Amino acid sequence: MPRIIVRGVGEFEVERGANLLEALRSCGVPIAAGCGGHGLCGMCRVRVVAGELSPPTRREAALLSGLLERGWRLACQATVLGDVEVEVPLRRARVKRRLRPSIPISTPLLLIPVRVVENPPSVEEALISELRRLGVNVRTASLRALASMAAAASRGGSDKIAVIMDGELVDLIDDYRGFGLAVDIGTTSVAASLVDLASGNVVGEEVSLNAQLRFGGDIIARIQYAATRANGVRELQEAVVDTVNSLVEKLGVPSERIYRVVVAGNSVMLHLFYGVNPRTLGSLPFEPVYRRSISARSGELGLRVNPQALVESLPILGGYVGGDVVGDMLASRILEYGTAMMIDVGTNGEVVVKKGDRLVAASTPAGPAFEGVGLSHGMMAVEGAVERVKVSWEGVEYRVIGGGDPQGICGSGYIDLLAELLRMGLLSESGRMVRGPRVREREGVLEFVLDEERGVALTQLDVRKLQLAIAAVKMTEKYLLRLLNVDVRELETVIVAGDFGYHLDPSNAMEVGLLPKVDEDLVEFIGNGSLTGAEMFMLSREAREEALRLAEACEVVEVPRHNKAFIEELKLGKWREP
Ligand code: FES
Repeated sequence: MPRIIVRGVGEFEVERGANLLEALRSCGVPIAAGCGGHGLCGMCRVRVVAGELSPPTRREAALLSGLLERGWRLACQATVLGDVEVEVPLRRARVKRRLRPSIPISTPLLLIPVRVVENPPSVEEALISELRRLGVNVRTASLRALASMAAAASRGGSDKIAVIMDGELVDLIDDYRGFGLAVDIGTTSVAASLVDLASGNVVGEEVSLNAQLRFGGDIIARIQYAATRANGVRELQEAVVDTVNSLVEKLGVPSERIYRVVVAGNSVMLHLFYGVNPRTLGSLPFEPVYRRSISARSGELGLRVNPQALVESLPILGGYVGGDVVGDMLASRILEYGTAMMIDVGTNGEVVVKKGDRLVAASTPAGPAFEGVGLSHGMMAVEGAVERVKVSWEGVEYRVIGGGDPQGICGSGYIDLLAELLRMGLLSESGRMVRGPRVREREGVLEFVLDEERGVALTQLDVRKLQLAIAAVKMTEKYLLRLLNVDVRELETVIVAGDFGYHLDPSNAMEVGLLPKVDEDLVEFIGNGSLTGAEMFMLSREAREEALRLAEACEVVEVPRHNKAFIEELKLGKWREP
């Protein structure tokens, strides 16, 4: 089989006769292709350093003129005939914090250069047949596109870029800029990323608190509000839609240029976003109203993006295991492992275990402690939060997100503190703080002082709340491992999703018992997998099919909460048994 060497990226084997653009995209090379491979936009150009490709087509001759001689080709027009080495002018993504697995990109958007001419029988029909002549099938034009046609049509014609989504001409614009919006709706915060639909690159990312917080901090409070107030669902929906609209504004592109939206989130958040009362999730047997991937027009939801934009959701697995977990699973590529465990700890925690063909998931009522909520100096992992701590008999060192003075402690900082105090014997396995350096008594309660000047400290009460959260996660992890008969030593990977996980020190997470004791190299942090998964769902047919398969294949189970077992898990320290 011929090899394609992409300079600075890697080497791939492809079928002889493969289309170069499709081959590059199926290998995960993020190459732009506005017109979807019709040889009309010129965005897929690559420089051929050496190798055998089919001769240039007429469309290449028209679009590349002098560049052809210098080795440039349109990847969509070239067929691979033998080994070839190319240089792809990759558009660098500005956002690098999350790693997205390389996926075959097949974006839903086409950007085709056209001439809008006043021709019989109508401007619309003339344009649609012109597009068909170019090989692009379009059924109809939206009202917005008709309005742009009216403005652009003239006897001599004017040049425009036709925006086509799923066979509909949705807009006529002046440049090749079309975006998608991926959204992760968390109970506490909402994150959004802006995706360039021609290249698949993430070009911006913003996060904000969920405006639903004013109706209650957790999902139970939101369900109650929705179930008991006359306009509860509408108020909650408007609040989260407002949050997403504010993120769109911050992302700084004209909102009408956003042509597709994919949302992920826990079951309650997804119900509320689409204006569906999540009442059934509030009482036994805690089932959702729907599980499938929903799609609605942005206008129906009040979302300020292109009015024709489809707003799709990742499917829900069931009960409290929502589309955010589907996103995590897509982003982590969990299906590629034989035996794996994944945890996502936000305001609600979820654990997934895979062994062979079986995949089981459960939610875990960890509470918001890992997000710093309810702790004396707790805060989210944002600027000013202590994210890492090292304690020794000589003193204490810590790292603050963004530098500067510590304003509080976020989840990973708390895990570090617990682990360090356990190692030093300043904290017993039962979670009792003992007197020692930097441990002082305040109003009858012991606390470990991190920063004297600002009074930032870990109190005995904080330790108790963290113990409860760790025990809840640990109990779920152990239950699912036992259910699939997995010994911890069999785990090929332990995936930690979520922003909390992103700052976590794996050895400290194992020291306190939040993660099973495995080789540190097996622990993988994927950051906000829910957001990454939403991007993948938007950009790749394969990822979309995988999400639907995952939703079918994953069994959601209820973890029995026996008090005796829970009390046993309250002990801090490394796992002793699976
Ligand atoms: S994708 Fe090749 S020219 Fe548009």
